[in-house]
Amino acid sequence: METLRLDPKTDCAAVSKAAEIIKRGGLVAMPTETVYGLAANACDEAAVKKIFEAKGRPQDNPLIVHIADFSALDELCTDISDTARIIVRAFWPGPLTVILKKRPVVPDIVTCGLDSVGVRFPSHKTAQALIRASGLPLAAPSANASGRPSPTSAEHVLMDMDGRIDAVLNGGECEIGVESTVLNLTGSVPVILRPGGVTLEMIRKIAPDAKAADFNRVPSQGERVLSPGMKYRHYAPKAPVTLITGELPHVLRYIEEHSSGAHLGIMCFDECADDFRALTPYIQTYGQRGDMLSQSSHIFSALRAFDAEPVEKIFVYATGDTHGLGMAINNRLSKAAGFDIVNV
Ligand code: TXA
Ligand code: MG
Repeated sequence: METLRLDPKTDCAAVSKAAEIIKRGGLVAMPTETVYGLAANACDEAAVKKIFEAKGRPQDNPLIVHIADFSALDELCTDISDTARIIVRAFWPGPLTVILKKRPVVPDIVTCGLDSVGVRFPSHKTAQALIRASGLPLAAPSANASGRPSPTSAEHVLMDMDGRIDAVLNGGECEIGVESTVLNLTGSVPVILRPGGVTLEMIRKIAPDAKAADFNRVPSQGERVLSPGMKYRHYAPKAPVTLITGELPHVLRYIEEHSSGAHLGIMCFDECADDFRALTPYIQTYGQRGDMLSQSSHIFSALRAFDAEPVEKIFVYATGDTHGLGMAINNRLSKAAGFDIVNV
């Protein structure tokens, strides 16, 4: 199929064209403040099936449903606690997905048979416009091929999905750049299953007992995981990645001693690019050391860029800081590295 390029900046009918495709059961990649999502009518099983096919997504990894007003939450979910209501009022619209008990209107294909569903109200105006114009809840995983870094621009979406989906709605670059926080609200205590732009510290201001699941490790074979997405290798460029933390001089020495003649790729903060140039010409920067939002917004584009370069081994220099947005940054980089992490 030919993938339509729709751009609201040059075509005032772009959103309504995208909504027509959704209503007909098609797939549209839409911008959000986190990453681009691959959207379909959440209540149309055949349309949702196409999402799994286009991404090559495992059949046991459930999708998030996107809404654009608070009342839609009660149409999709039941058993919503007072704490859950306060949390969504505090952080929606925004980069937070809540897991709640689903109502029967949500098809099993969306939740992969689970009795809970993930729901998110994005803040991105184009995403909201598409949801409202289609008049439907939209199931949307990140719009990358399964296992690849999530797309933070329409160009990234097309790298993985050109010819596999009906349209991409261009909304420029995503502001946050890492996927939403997934927060399980089905139990007595809120638990973060995937860290994102709404941080543990922010949630604890409302629910002091909130905690983070143990997501920074590879689950053992056959282990029951809380969030199916946690068990898959993710965000990975084609060359193997090692995450490295520590003082810059130690990091430089370690990489020099462990490069074993391979063509190296190095991903580092803007201000240390020059320090790494003696080791390799293949350097991708991902924001300033002290600015976590600039880092999160560049992680996936930097990881993706290595695929266009002849690199055989990638080192990612990071702070390892897990405060605030650092928890999400550290999680995505750790997963991209398959948890191959060295501290020097
Ligand atoms: O920011 C985002 O969340 C983006 C944009 C497009 O909204 N979407 C996104 O979707 O990242 P996806 O499918 O790539 O990640 C959804 C995550 C997966 O790890 C999945 O396992 C988990 O949410 N999830 C979805 N429904 C769940 C459920 N009922 N219980 C536990 N985890 C669930
Ligand atoms: Mg994803």
